[in-house]
Amino acid sequence: MSEAMLTLQDLEVHFPTKGGVVRAVDGVSLSLRQGEILGLVGESGSGKSTVGKAALRLIDPTGGQVLIDGTDITTARLRDLKPVRTKAQLIFQDPHSSMNPRMTIKRIVGEPLIIHTAIRGAELDQTVARLLERVGLPAQFLHRFPHELSGGQKQRVAIARALAVDPDLLILDEPTSALDVSVQAQILEFLKELHAERPRMTSLFISHNLAVVRFLCHRVAVMYLGKIVEEGPVAQVFSNPQHPYTKALLSAVPLPEATRGAGRIQLEGDLPSPVDRAQGCAFHPRCPVARKGLCDTKAPPRVDTGETWARCHLIGETP
Ligand SMILES: Nc1ncnc2c1ncn2[C@@H]1O[C@H](COP(=O)(O)OP(=O)(O)OP(=O)(O)O)[C@@H](O)[C@H]1O
Ligand SMILES: [Mg+2]
Repeated sequence: MSEAMLTLQDLEVHFPTKGGVVRAVDGVSLSLRQGEILGLVGESGSGKSTVGKAALRLIDPTGGQVLIDGTDITTARLRDLKPVRTKAQLIFQDPHSSMNPRMTIKRIVGEPLIIHTAIRGAELDQTVARLLERVGLPAQFLHRFPHELSGGQKQRVAIARALAVDPDLLILDEPTSALDVSVQAQILEFLKELHAERPRMTSLFISHNLAVVRFLCHRVAVMYLGKIVEEGPVAQVFSNPQHPYTKALLSAVPLPEATRGAGRIQLEGDLPSPVDRAQGCAFHPRCPVARKGLCDTKAPPRVDTGETWARCHLIGETP
């Protein structure tokens, strides 16, 4: 029996476009153990949301495998995905776009129960009221419509709806980015509590906010142009990042650990297009320590350093 709740094996999502093939996800391998919260970070356009969607087959991967609790969903027929989809729920950044504006909150939260269970009538009402209470919303919200709620309240409703089917796997795509700091903190506290209550529940937490990942996640994976460049326990990666890209990301945020490093590293330019990826290491055109004749020609190896690993030619050599 595998302890992994979610396994991505060489996951690849390539989009053919007029301008060329967009290699949004280009060989991502990750494994989340039961109960674990893994943060997936990286600049805008690095491929995080595409990983999240492909993990639930909302987008069909062009290569590789996805296993949810041991079931390979990449080869499963769509109708066989229903039980897996019940186990796994996706929560988006913008809760409003994922809610039917004409449905009451009661209907929105109750819908997955109607689709996936035999619960009906008074029992359904009670279950929905309990779910709302669990996310900190009073019962009078049952009869409201999405536009009558604040952003934070809507995100709570989205979480209540995801929890309705008692999921084992949550994929949270920037769930607090649209919220102000105090509401964000409440939702994060709540997610932490939820994990403490449900030891089996496993989360892939997509975020560009490193402080949030540090607060909530056990492990972190850093993504750059469709590939994971570093992965490891949050404590290790944040206090001793190995990859120059991770160092640059960390140096840009005010974290206690970051002040001990070599000072702020400025990332030059924007994320290049995933269509014309550079030869060698994809990060070399922006890397402050890239070495000519090596980083611009050869793909970097995976180097393990204790519990973390990173893909870089220069690990152990850079300050
Ligand atoms: N359907 C599509 N067709 C073509 N290209 C796409 C498609 N979906 C995403 N992309 C491209 O794939 C790359 C990764 O996009 P993705 O949305 O996964 O990034 P992200 O890391 O989630 O970014 P953000 O932080 O802005 O949400 C981008 O270059 C994007 O333009
Ligand atoms: Mg995204």
